[in-house]
Amino acid sequence: MLLKGNQSLSRKLNGFNETKTYKLSAKMNWSLGVNRSIAWLPSNMNPISYLPSYNLLSGEEKLKFNQYYALGLCEKFVFLEECLITSITKLLQVESMNSQLRLQCEQFVEEEKDHCDLFINLCNVAEPKKYNGKPYYFLKQFKSHNFFADFIFKKPNLFLFWSWLAVYFEEKTIIVSHEYVNAKKSVDSLFCKAHFLHLQDELQHVQFDIDFINNFYKTKSNYKKKIAVKMLYNTVNKIIVPSKTLKIIFKSIINELKIKDTSVYDSLLKEIKFLMNNKLYMDVMFKKEKFKTFSNLVTLYPEMSPLNKFLC
Ligand SMILES: [Fe+2]
Ligand SMILES: [Fe+2]
Repeated sequence: MLLKGNQSLSRKLNGFNETKTYKLSAKMNWSLGVNRSIAWLPSNMNPISYLPSYNLLSGEEKLKFNQYYALGLCEKFVFLEECLITSITKLLQVESMNSQLRLQCEQFVEEEKDHCDLFINLCNVAEPKKYNGKPYYFLKQFKSHNFFADFIFKKPNLFLFWSWLAVYFEEKTIIVSHEYVNAKKSVDSLFCKAHFLHLQDELQHVQFDIDFINNFYKTKSNYKKKIAVKMLYNTVNKIIVPSKTLKIIFKSIINELKIKDTSVYDSLLKEIKFLMNNKLYMDVMFKKEKFKTFSNLVTLYPEMSPLNKFLC
């Protein structure tokens, strides 16, 4: 199933207008489809390629992992952007704010909906049978998924961590997009184009995120801030060491390729726990210079200092 330029898929995400033409999807040439014989993710962003047992996988297994991890990344983008849409939509309903901040919030929500649409379409074009018009395939197996989306992010004045997650996550998406732009000769062109288009909006969003922290976090109680630090710390830890995502993707590969001896996958799951000690991987994904806005903010807000652990 291939999509025409401005066609949106049926979905049940909060506040989405199924008849609307989303602007980034309209810029994609979906009829190109994806190239299944090449990578969908830049090789240096593949977390398991840094692990000792990686070279024990066959070429077919490596390619499948690369492609499924690229899809999982799109799903994470959709999930996190949906969470931020939920928080900011709530704030627009309950908070009094000046007209400029209100406009920024409204623009942010509209653009993030556009991004969700883009990545959902990309997953569906790449693996139509798996996604079948839905936004999630790999992530739907995350048990905490609905709890976060339906509870935590609907209370943005209580669980303040959304504002910090926004700046961390959005700066990370810029890093991801740059890696796709750099790898465009070796990575599928539809994936590269989608991440390139995403980059254009995210550069401005990081500036919005600073205003969100100043307006929706700064003056809140120390107790709420403490909770925010803890939640952000745990979330970033999971982003760096994506054990759950790996387990789900490995399960799919093992089933699809009918692999009987799974010892290499067991070893990879043990080795992934030490990924944070791998300087090469951390340099690509978590270098301090690449997280300029986030690390500057961490300096301004001393309670966030535990997060320095994740910036090398
Ligand atoms: Fe986005
Ligand atoms: Fe964004």
